Amino acid sequence: MELGRLLASGRAADVYDLGDGTVLRRYRVRHDVTDEARLMSWLADQGYPVPVVHHAEGRDLVMDKIAGPTMLEDLQRKPWRLVAHARLLARLQGRLNAVTAPEWLPVRAGVTAGTAVLHLDFHPMNVILSDAGPIVIDWTNASRGEGSFDAAMTAVLVSTSEIAGVRDRVGQRLFTALFSVSRGRCEISRSLAAAATYRLDDVNVTDSERERLRHLVDG
Ligand SMILES: Nc1ncnc2c1ncn2[C@@H]1O[C@H](COP(=O)(O)OP(=O)(O)O)[C@@H](O)[C@H]1O
Ligand SMILES: [Mg+2]
Repeated sequence: MELGRLLASGRAADVYDLGDGTVLRRYRVRHDVTDEARLMSWLADQGYPVPVVHHAEGRDLVMDKIAGPTMLEDLQRKPWRLVAHARLLARLQGRLNAVTAPEWLPVRAGVTAGTAVLHLDFHPMNVILSDAGPIVIDWTNASRGEGSFDAAMTAVLVSTSEIAGVRDRVGQRLFTALFSVSRGRCEISRSLAAAATYRLDDVNVTDSERERLRHLVDG
């Protein structure tokens, strides 16, 4: 397969533009994308906005290329959209967590038991704002579980991620607060310590993020 232009390089995978309206997401480590691709296709059939999957094999996933900025890129250029974007993220995630998971979707260890589909990496870099509406990407961590756990995980990810610059840190606090109100503060508090504990297990978490996560775990 011709790899094409490298679009992005993340923690675990590289994304290439194949030039025909599709992208290849290739894991750099040994990994099987079958489950992730199956969930994406299943969600598309339920009417949930995800990229159409064309091919999935081993560490390679070929899907539609979504044109548009990520929600975070859009926020950086148009900060006045913060309120609308925080609400949109909450609404999009609420729609996902209202879906009853197919019985083949596994539960990850440490996730609160439940029947919903959880993304578990639902943040403004994993939503692309296309002309046809927002599309959710990066389904690597998806699990079956309790909806509030996904909501809390987003609050954890957004509030503890390392951000440079005072203006952006104010934005981070405001975004977390608005997201929490839209998603339901009680729901988020219920699972906050569990989500922060789960996140502490991630080897990619930096030392300062770790410290902030510990505060959330201790309440
Ligand atoms: N289907 C897609 N269409 C367009 N760009 C994509 C697509 N999937 C991923 N990308 C780009 O690649 C980046 C990384 O992809 P992502 O799946 O979020 O992996 P990770 O965050 O693990 O690196 C995204 O932020 C986006 O810029
Ligand atoms: Mg991502």
